[in-house]
Amino acid sequence: MTVRVAQTTSRCNVPPITMRTPVTLCIVLFVVMAESSSAVLPSLYEYYTSGGIKTGLDDNQTYFKLNNKQITIYSGALHYFRVPQAYWRDRLRKLRAAGLNAVETYVPWNLHEPQEGVFDFGSGGTKEEDLFVLLRPGPYICSEWEFGGLPSWLLRYEGIKIRTSDKQYMGFVENYFKKLLELVAPLQFTKGGAIIAIQIENEYGGTKDGDNPVDTGYLQQIKELLTGNGIVELLYTSDTPSNGFSGTLPGVLATANFQDQPIFELSILKIFQPNKPLMVMEYWTGWFDHWTEKHHTRSAAAFGLVLEEILFFNGSVNMYMFHGGTNWGFLNGANIKGLFSDNEGYQPDVTSYDYDAPLSEAGDYTDKYQKVKEIIAKHNTLEIRQPPMPELIKRVAYPTVNVTGELSLDELLKQSEVLNSEKLLPMELLNINNNSGQSYGYIVYKKSNIDIPKNSILKIEGRVCDTVLALVNGQLKSKVLKTQEDLDGFGYWKLKDSTLNLGPDEYKSATLELVVENWGRVNYGKLYQFKQHKGLWQGNVLLNDDILSNWQIIPLEFKKAWIQNLKSWRTPTSTIGPKLYKALLNVDEPNDTFVDLRDWNKGFVVINGFVLARYLTLGPQQMAYLPAPLLRKGENEILIFEHFFPSESIKFATDPTF
Ligand SMILES: *[C@@H]1O[C@H](CO)[C@@H](O)[C@H](O)[C@H]1NC(C)=O
Ligand SMILES: *[C@@H]1O[C@H](CO)[C@@H](O)[C@H](O)[C@H]1NC(C)=O
Ligand SMILES: *[C@@H]1O[C@H](CO)[C@@H](O)[C@H](O)[C@H]1NC(C)=O
Ligand SMILES: *[C@@H]1O[C@H](CO)[C@@H](O)[C@H](O)[C@H]1NC(C)=O
Ligand SMILES: *[C@@H]1O[C@H](CO)[C@@H](O)[C@H](O)[C@H]1NC(C)=O
Repeated sequence: MTVRVAQTTSRCNVPPITMRTPVTLCIVLFVVMAESSSAVLPSLYEYYTSGGIKTGLDDNQTYFKLNNKQITIYSGALHYFRVPQAYWRDRLRKLRAAGLNAVETYVPWNLHEPQEGVFDFGSGGTKEEDLFVLLRPGPYICSEWEFGGLPSWLLRYEGIKIRTSDKQYMGFVENYFKKLLELVAPLQFTKGGAIIAIQIENEYGGTKDGDNPVDTGYLQQIKELLTGNGIVELLYTSDTPSNGFSGTLPGVLATANFQDQPIFELSILKIFQPNKPLMVMEYWTGWFDHWTEKHHTRSAAAFGLVLEEILFFNGSVNMYMFHGGTNWGFLNGANIKGLFSDNEGYQPDVTSYDYDAPLSEAGDYTDKYQKVKEIIAKHNTLEIRQPPMPELIKRVAYPTVNVTGELSLDELLKQSEVLNSEKLLPMELLNINNNSGQSYGYIVYKKSNIDIPKNSILKIEGRVCDTVLALVNGQLKSKVLKTQEDLDGFGYWKLKDSTLNLGPDEYKSATLELVVENWGRVNYGKLYQFKQHKGLWQGNVLLNDDILSNWQIIPLEFKKAWIQNLKSWRTPTSTIGPKLYKALLNVDEPNDTFVDLRDWNKGFVVINGFVLARYLTLGPQQMAYLPAPLLRKGENEILIFEHFFPSESIKFATDPTF
């Protein structure tokens, strides 16, 4: 997935370190079998494997065959890292019950190798649901996911050329793929698993920049890494046909990504590849939102028409997304508008990845779901068992809870690790986390013992990445964010070499703090647009034209263990932030809910130590999906980090308002 710049293009996305649970490897869960054999009709898996498994998916004719039986792939995208693990089965069954026969997922490298050389794949390895799998292991996945799924520690290597055949970059990919593919290889169809096809990189044609040739040697190397590590099933690439075929490899199936004009796009693909099956790897069911935009929707009727046309054209299809889910915590991606080469065109994505997909963020059936079910039923003539639609998971609006505690920024910083540096550094270059740097969250630059005369001018050279709050002696000096226009001023990425008047007071031996937020790394663009360092690093910070140096740098990563050990909570004062606020929610029976953040201003919400969601009153997202598996019976701790004005309470709702 990627972003639509003009009419035709692509979309893309990336995860947080705090979310340990959903990191467990997806593939596991997507596999086949289930239900007893008492029913008359065979399951999907039984049908395609009866007589023994001889061959995997093949594209040797104008339609697909799986194990020598003709198959049209009706697939839906569902990313395991965007759904609580406890709900994987529910969502997969809902997908199967719509008549789909496959599920597609990306694999985010940044969740599985959070520090260089440290791997985390959870556990698993069983076949439990009656679905085939289309796997997209990247290493770059776009997907509106932080940094397109790339680990931020790659940025510690100066001169590294990500998504190219650069030796240093490929060395890291090789290490990661070795670990990942060891787990994936036994899950392939011909090995008795569910994976029937595997994608090479992601929309690599989108890196084409003017007349510069695309680094197809890189694609070739990714292909060789896959086959060299035991991958034997069908390989493919995916791009939008009308953007050209520079992201394809000879002998490798090219597939199509688009939202509209299916006959146009598929005809181009057909000319390029006349003797192969037509496959839409990303048929965009809806769209994602950037902060401050209007929530994107697409009617079920418009969606259904295009789906019908794809199937009429004998295409196979993967609906992107079938169920979008949530960009937990700090894991949303972002875009760079147009051809900007620095942070100026930055557009961060919201936490919800609802996508206006057939299954909503909370797993509800929508009109589009009914449409899919109806259309597939009409086209699919295969006599196989189709399970009933699972019942919906109940949601409740818990009673409003009052804020009962607060921690000032100063108190937070006292409980954090402090680094000293002569110069400003981006978060990735801090020597923390086993020398993998800081990936997510906030970073504070602190300068003590400075005299600040009246009307002093603070200047930040270059652009901030991505927002900054300026405080003197713990008092907020930058403007409160109220309107979209405020984003054009001091405190935000759009303004280069920004300045702030620190006001009419004079200070002796004062402390200046600059609290910088990483609002999510860009996940899609030309290679030169992947300038992803976060914090203050583009230039100096000056006070009345004097360069400030010798900083204290304090990473605020908001990791679970740190959050749960926070002490010195005080009675809330309702004064301006930035501050961390606390409330307790007592629950008899955990149920799904939405946290209603309309009375808050800007920040993020944490549930039992897990960073759940960002919020911003400018919207479009106003509520954070809080699934029951993140709650427990009894007392639950909810924290809100608010940049500006807090509310006195936290509300809940059964349904989101966008
Ligand atoms: C498809 O074609 C390739 C190349 O000719 C061949 O190696 C392979 O066995 C064929 N697969 C099937 C299932 O016929
Ligand atoms: C630190 O990183 C190395 C690899 O670079 C790894 O072997 C080691 O286990 C890591 N240590 C911790 C504590 O994670
Ligand atoms: C789709 O396949 C059917 C059956 O093989 C064929 O008759 C029809 O012409 C195909 N349609 C298109 C648009 O290629
Ligand atoms: C929350 O605070 C309000 C206003 O101070 C008070 O009226 C209400 O009783 C409090 N609610 C709870 C559950 O403590
Ligand atoms: C809440 O969830 C539990 C299962 O965790 C379920 O048994 C119960 O019916 C739900 N409560 C409501 C009000 O839906």
